[in-house]
Amino acid sequence: MKMKILTNESIAKKVFRMKLSAEEVDFKTLSPGTFLNIRVGKGMEPLLRRPISIFDADEKEKTLTIIYKVLGRGTELMSFLKEGEHLDVLGPLGTGFPVQDESRKVLLAGGGVGVPPLYELGKRLRENGVEIVTVLGFRDEASVFCQKDFLKLGKVLIATEDGSVGVEGYVTDAIREMGEDFDTLYACGPRAMLRSLDEAYQDKKKGYLSFEERMACGIGACYGCMTETKDGLKRVCKDGPVFRLGEVVYE
Ligand SMILES: Cc1cc2nc3c(=O)[nH]c(=O)nc-3n(C[C@H](O)[C@H](O)[C@H](O)COP(=O)(O)OP(=O)(O)OC[C@H]3O[C@@H](n4cnc5c(N)ncnc54)[C@H](O)[C@@H]3O)c2cc1C
Ligand code: FES
Repeated sequence: MKMKILTNESIAKKVFRMKLSAEEVDFKTLSPGTFLNIRVGKGMEPLLRRPISIFDADEKEKTLTIIYKVLGRGTELMSFLKEGEHLDVLGPLGTGFPVQDESRKVLLAGGGVGVPPLYELGKRLRENGVEIVTVLGFRDEASVFCQKDFLKLGKVLIATEDGSVGVEGYVTDAIREMGEDFDTLYACGPRAMLRSLDEAYQDKKKGYLSFEERMACGIGACYGCMTETKDGLKRVCKDGPVFRLGEVVYE
């Protein structure tokens, strides 16, 4: 489907927030943690669509907001797009985070480009009366984004690799500093971060991890995004990107 770009603005070092008009999206069935697979070029190049998570879904306005970091050609092309232009989008795709009612206090843990999908999730959990604590990890102060958005949901702790703001180190260091007083963990970020969290908490907590693997078709057809799990090989794009804590087997 085509989505009209309403805004596309820089919010941190190489990070952009884009708001899209999403008249055709069924907001009733949209779950947090799902993603849009976006054709970024006008011609054949780049060939593959780029998966970007839904940061915020506004049913009243009928808009979706995404946040993306410029890493290569695809995301660079997205950063050049202007208000009023249209994006060719597939989605929302994938199996997102379950929004459970029985959790009383949850921890949201996001690293870098893994931060965006946790906001829509946090909004839904908050609506259900769940207490939220968020830990966000970035490289340095200039890379920090969305802190203000997550502050609307509850307490926020920042970790930076160079210690220029917040706790010096990784998300896992900030969680240790904050304490482990939560029922459920929801996390998204680089595989190494998810693996550390999985190893630390799979025997202690309930939780869900969202994996940002490289993808091709994004709709479960090409088997190009397989990951090993305790129940066999699964497609990250269709069976995930969200998996239960303890489900994925790391090589
Ligand atoms: C389900 C899912 C949700 C995602 N959500 C977001 C999001 O909300 N915001 C966001 O900024 N990005 C998100 N990503 C990552 C995003 O898809 C990639 O950063 C993007 O495809 C890079 O495209 P490119 O053409 O700019 O870079 P390329 O030219 O394809 O790659 C440039 C560099 O980035 C690295 N790279 C590419 N893809 C990834 C990846 N998936 N993870 C880590 N490194 C990568 C490459 O190894 C290379 O070094 C998501 C990925 C998945 C699978
Ligand atoms: S990207 Fe094609 S099956 Fe997942």
